[in-house]
Amino acid sequence: MTSIAVIGGGNIGEALISGFIASGMAPTNIKVTNRSEERGRQLEERYGIQSLQDNAQAVGDADVVFLCVKPKGILDMLTEISPALDDNDGDTIVVSMAAGVSLPAMEDAVSAGTPVVRVMPNTPMLVRQGMCAIAPGRFTIEEQVSVVADLLRAVGDVRVVAESDMDAVTAMSGSSPAYIYLVAESLIDAGVSLGLTRDAAQELAVSAIHGASTMLKESGDDPTTLRAKVSSPAGTTVAALRELEESGIRGAFFRAAEACAVRSAELGAPATDN
Ligand SMILES: NC(=O)c1ccc[n+]([C@@H]2O[C@H](COP(=O)([O-])OP(=O)(O)OC[C@H]3O[C@@H](n4cnc5c(N)ncnc54)[C@H](OP(=O)(O)O)[C@@H]3O)[C@@H](O)[C@H]2O)c1
Repeated sequence: MTSIAVIGGGNIGEALISGFIASGMAPTNIKVTNRSEERGRQLEERYGIQSLQDNAQAVGDADVVFLCVKPKGILDMLTEISPALDDNDGDTIVVSMAAGVSLPAMEDAVSAGTPVVRVMPNTPMLVRQGMCAIAPGRFTIEEQVSVVADLLRAVGDVRVVAESDMDAVTAMSGSSPAYIYLVAESLIDAGVSLGLTRDAAQELAVSAIHGASTMLKESGDDPTTLRAKVSSPAGTTVAALRELEESGIRGAFFRAAEACAVRSAELGAPATDN
């Protein structure tokens, strides 16, 4: 079985560990590191995995290393673990979950030939409904990409992309859960303005968003078809949709996605603390 080291057991690191265990991986195959002993103990107790404070020791004999520290710490971390990676028998795959740190920068921080994969996850991975876009580095072979993709499926969907698409990916899946939370918030406020209690408005809006997203994923229909199916001629839904269109919702999403991609590119060089 694949042996895993998770470097940095914070939000994203814990989401991975929890997903791996829920998908049947033996806790004995997972090591995690943190600087704080207390956090390490917490993860050990919660998942039965081994917690260490020595990153080089944790990556020794690992098949796949997930880097889950903040972006500004990624390159130093790679420099720190590089000798231990070189000592491993096989090629250890290094997977960075950090926003904005490029593959060439990471490949330069380790020995030539080290397979590196860059991932853009999103927060729904905390409930195993994430979207991970993965960009393989130049020393990563197809079989290694499959290994990483199979592991990440424990926390949601996976799509292989070119690194040049990462800014667009950030706009599409990395940041977009926040757009949907804003839509939910606005809809709830609108319900309250129609006289519903906040509690009732929240339950109705959240359930509708959850149901609609399940339909989007599972019905096989595209969004245009699904929207047409709930829009009776001269009915209530088209009256609402006309208001949204006249308020410029489509243009707002075009501008929002563009602003996000531009900001992602700005933050990408040099690496920053996202
Ligand atoms: N959260 C998101 O929505 C999101 C989305 C996309 C991408 N990401 C990426 O995921 C990465 C992790 O984000 P996060 O939200 O999980 O951050 P986080 O909760 O702050 O977790 C970072 C973890 O790294 C540990 N750490 C820091 N330096 C370390 C070191 N030298 N050795 C060992 N452990 C160390 C920290 O624990 P100690 O302080 O105890 O060492 C902490 O547990 C980031 O690179 C971020 O860009 C996050």
